[in-house]
Amino acid sequence: MTDDKAGLVIRGLTVAYGRKKIVRSFSLGPVPRGEVLALLGPNAAGKSTLLRGIAGLGSASGQVVFDGVDLARLPRVERAKRIAYMPQSQPPGIRLAVIEAVMSACSGMIGRQAAMREAYDALARLGADELAMLPLSELSGGQRQIVALAQAIVRRPEILMLDEPTSALDLKHQIHVMECTTALARERGTIVIAVLHDVPLALRYADSVAVLKDGSLKVHGRAEEIVTPQLLADVYGIEARVERCSLGRIQIMVDGTLSR
Ligand SMILES: Nc1ncnc2c1ncn2[C@@H]1O[C@H](COP(=O)(O)OP(=O)(O)OP(=O)(O)O)[C@@H](O)[C@H]1O
Ligand SMILES: [Mg+2]
Repeated sequence: MTDDKAGLVIRGLTVAYGRKKIVRSFSLGPVPRGEVLALLGPNAAGKSTLLRGIAGLGSASGQVVFDGVDLARLPRVERAKRIAYMPQSQPPGIRLAVIEAVMSACSGMIGRQAAMREAYDALARLGADELAMLPLSELSGGQRQIVALAQAIVRRPEILMLDEPTSALDLKHQIHVMECTTALARERGTIVIAVLHDVPLALRYADSVAVLKDGSLKVHGRAEEIVTPQLLADVYGIEARVERCSLGRIQIMVDGTLSR
């Protein structure tokens, strides 16, 4: 892409709860359209707070520029059209059928028939079409997480932000969800930002990795260039080896924790 304004650029984003600044002067980018960015970092680093700041929820200052436009200058409804945010935990399910719940995520943007098509398509992509008629309140934790992802996808956002989208999923569903998400990014030119605690999963699927610690960006780059034993020691306080398996994929072997 030759347009140097394409993609996402974040400049000096500070996000606070009341007077407590959690994310401090975070800058990153450009992240090109169609790419998956994994956001890593230890518990309480500020990852969820950062996603909320990018989404325009809560108190934030700085710039979130998408395709050359500062999203803070857009009316709230326009910003919400461009960004979908799947929070880390889902609200308790209600007795609404899954298909209705997924349709309701986009029915304000498109007509009911189109919303139904989008909802079935999203569930099918995620291999969850058999859930369509079940009540949301009767889903397992992993099923609920997949439906929440479908609710984000049907809105066809330009930026899709997923806070720990695989935390409740078994190994097969983790791979399937990451493959679906990557395929969607490529197909629609969506920028995906996914918070992950599973570092090997991030290394396998993300085009680039950003590491957050104590509310500040520690490093952003291609996984194979930045994920080193030293980084894992600095960020997570672990002793680990970074090696390639017989398929050439980067693997992390954790040997222990480092005393602080
Ligand atoms: N609503 C809130 N009010 C005040 N402080 C908050 C609030 N939510 C989070 N925090 C604080 O902000 C800091 C960052 O929290 P955040 O949820 O962004 O971390 P995280 O990196 O997403 O962690 P985790 O991996 O555990 O989900 C923590 O110190 C937390 O206590
Ligand atoms: Mg979090």
